[in-house]
Amino acid sequence: MKIIEWAQKMSVQVAEIDDQHKKLVEIINAAFSIENPSENRKKFEPILNDLIEFTRVHFSTEEKYFDKFNYAEKDEHIEEHLKLIDAVLKFKDGFDSGKCDCEPFLSFLRDWLAEHLLKMDQKYIECFKANGLE
Ligand SMILES: [Fe+2]
Ligand SMILES: [Fe+2]
Repeated sequence: MKIIEWAQKMSVQVAEIDDQHKKLVEIINAAFSIENPSENRKKFEPILNDLIEFTRVHFSTEEKYFDKFNYAEKDEHIEEHLKLIDAVLKFKDGFDSGKCDCEPFLSFLRDWLAEHLLKMDQKYIECFKANGLE
């Protein structure tokens, strides 16, 4: 079952970034698809690692363009990215020490991503377009 679906209204009109967003959606769905993660830690762990790694790749892609184009709302945006990375690493720490409160974490992640794509990421479209990115 898909828990989150990428939708056209989430598009930031840049193929490279839309593809990364789709991949994040895919990783979250893969995590959700594991039943009883606390008993299936071996299956859950690589997905969690993928999530951490790919989130970093994605955020640094956006932030590279913020720098390049001198994006006005760069600081607020990076702040939101940092908060998410923090939350994910905190969860990972707990997971590594044997805890797995996975459901609330995944729900948080799903809501965070949907909201971020629909609001925060939409704001840079104009700037990225003005700088010729597509
Ligand atoms: Fe993004
Ligand atoms: Fe972002």
